Amino acid sequence: MVSFKELGLVNTREMFAKAIKGGYAIPAFNFNNMEQLQAIVKACAETKSPVILQVSKGARNYANQTLLRYMAQGAVEYAKELGWEHPQICLHLDHGDSFELCKSCVDFGFSSVMIDASSLPYEENIALTKKVVEYAHQYDVTVEAELGVLAGVEDEVSSAVSHYTKPEEVVDFATRTGCDSLAISIGTSHGAYKFTPEQCTRDPKTGKLVPPPLAFDVLDAIMEQLPGFPIVLHGSSSVPQEYVDMINQYGGKLPDAVGIPEEQLRKAAKSAVCKINIDSDSRLAFTAAVRKVFAEKPGEFDPRKYCGPARDLMEQLYKHKIINVLGSDGKAE
Ligand code: G3H
Ligand code: 13P
Ligand code: ZN
Repeated sequence: MVSFKELGLVNTREMFAKAIKGGYAIPAFNFNNMEQLQAIVKACAETKSPVILQVSKGARNYANQTLLRYMAQGAVEYAKELGWEHPQICLHLDHGDSFELCKSCVDFGFSSVMIDASSLPYEENIALTKKVVEYAHQYDVTVEAELGVLAGVEDEVSSAVSHYTKPEEVVDFATRTGCDSLAISIGTSHGAYKFTPEQCTRDPKTGKLVPPPLAFDVLDAIMEQLPGFPIVLHGSSSVPQEYVDMINQYGGKLPDAVGIPEEQLRKAAKSAVCKINIDSDSRLAFTAAVRKVFAEKPGEFDPRKYCGPARDLMEQLYKHKIINVLGSDGKAE
């Protein structure tokens, strides 16, 4: 059993309380490799932004959970070396799907876990979430739960059947589970194809797809039910057109990729939404930079020569999100 406190990590409790009060959101960036982690830490150290480092089950399988945990511990030390005196870094399990996985992360030094039982029937979601909360809270590890189903490309926005979080359920759910934050469904979804072209309109000037707005009325109703309770938005990549264009220009094929417009995320960050999850944008930046090097220098075979530019572009992306979208810069001096 390793306590996250020994590793210099923090849980989300204070982070979220400050974010709600201050009208900004904490970035939750996924990482799977060293370059992503370096870029995240550099961006956060430079902007003095608190950060949630997210590890998915897939990341654990890809990179090895032991290595990832030591990398997170290394991130704290690296942040200090970069001149960030009091790094506010949380190590979080993203989309935990079982009690055993959550327990293993708590025991291994994570400071926060998500139990995503949103696909289970309501009462089963409550029972599993409660079990994880009871275990995690013994070690001061915070727990994110999810209620409502994130939209798939085909459903939600165009569907008559809504999977949005039901505002009438949130008080019962939060009270009975004791969770520390709640991921909700208001129209965001995972990946680089968040909406089909049919769900969007086209900007007559640029010909680009314009996605339908998020369901801010549902968010408002949830906040009314649970005043001051930390809300989380998954699936919040914006799918920057410049990266999609770069990928397509250098031999990739991402037709009609579309994300959540940044102005909508800016609006959400000012509300009780205090954690915004971004993974796909980083993947796009990485891929765009690597493709560019491969296309322009076909003789290059030193991974540092293409992973380095990828790291630089991701760092630029993270800083942009922190400063221009989430407003978390300068909140962890
Ligand atoms: O929510 C999903 C995250 O983007 C992690 O994705 O399961 O492919 O690592 P992954
Ligand atoms: P994106 O696919 O929009 O980056 O969402 C990431 C996420 O929600 C991780 O949990
Ligand atoms: Zn997610």
